[in-house]
Amino acid sequence: MLDVNGISELHHERFGLKPRVFAAPGRVNIIGEHTDYADGFVMPAAIDFATFAAISPRDDGRIEIRSENYQDSVAYERNGLPRQQIGHWSDYPVGILAVLHEEGMEIPAFSLTLQGDVPVGAGLSSSAAVEVSTMAAVLSLINVEIPLPRMAQLCRRAENGYVGASTGIMDQFIACCGAENHALLLDCRSLEYRLAPIPPDLSLVISNTMVKHAHAGGEYNTRRAEVEEGTEILRRHRPEIRKLRDATIADLEKWGDEMPPDVLKRVRHVITENERTVAAADALERGDLETLGRLMYAAHASYRDDFEASCREADAMVELASKEEGCIGARLTGGGFGGCTVNLVKAACARQFAANLQRRYREVTGIDADVYLCRASAGAHEVEA
Ligand code: GLA
Repeated sequence: MLDVNGISELHHERFGLKPRVFAAPGRVNIIGEHTDYADGFVMPAAIDFATFAAISPRDDGRIEIRSENYQDSVAYERNGLPRQQIGHWSDYPVGILAVLHEEGMEIPAFSLTLQGDVPVGAGLSSSAAVEVSTMAAVLSLINVEIPLPRMAQLCRRAENGYVGASTGIMDQFIACCGAENHALLLDCRSLEYRLAPIPPDLSLVISNTMVKHAHAGGEYNTRRAEVEEGTEILRRHRPEIRKLRDATIADLEKWGDEMPPDVLKRVRHVITENERTVAAADALERGDLETLGRLMYAAHASYRDDFEASCREADAMVELASKEEGCIGARLTGGGFGGCTVNLVKAACARQFAANLQRRYREVTGIDADVYLCRASAGAHEVEA
């Protein structure tokens, strides 16, 4: 667990002023994968891993950003920030400054300390946590308040335009708008959302396969391109299909044979995943855990077979989880090709589940997995030292 007093003291010692501290969480996606950029539905929850951003003003016209995780700092003149990413951890906070500047805000001089415990490269959105906490901190310094959904849009713009990762809005949105003990069903077109309570006798167990296949970033973009290609083919027949959100399985039955076989499968995943996600939110709201679990397993199968974004290790992890007592549903979460699985487990069984899963996963793959028993947590907020 991060300690707000710890980061506050580190910041004070280094920069001479007591900071204000803002937190933004990582996330786990319960269901709805590769649907966000198709204007579809996602149902993530914020988790109790987060990034803290501690900020204080300066009077020397400079901006200094310190990462406690990387034990490294960058410093620039307030008006001399790099205009493009430099392939460094600092691209994330600097990208936020670039976007605020584009929005017409004057960026003041300040010192910023970042510290986080969201596992990096595990598909739990450590980057969105850095972006959102940085934005909350800088906005506080210039006394600007913007609605959280708007903040998510701006953070996504930093990730897409500055860092150069063409992701959807899910990660930034949940880092802004998450709520304790709730999952969030987001309509990625209208940005309307509703919160669905996670029953107290249910645990959110995240298990890290400990693999991230090296081609993950490239494959994400390939999948996006295939989704676009399929959308374009359907749009020729039904021009009102702006994104796959607007398409149905009936459309695919009529015109799917015009698509290359892989494209057809990607499109089928996105269309069916949107349906599953809305149904899963309904099931969670009415406490129908059996249906929710079934939808999660179906989502994993679709991610594996149609979207082809799973991997051997994640398939093994889901399969092993499904055999454990108290497991309601399990699937690979996040962008794909490794990272973590999300498991909904009866709270009374969660510890045993975690221990068994670790043991069985080691037997099958030879890999020691990290397993986290998480709580659905709040989105971006200020923390008092
Ligand atoms: C990554 C992206 C999200 C989303 C997921 C897949 O996490 O950042 O925008 O596309 O992959 O669902």
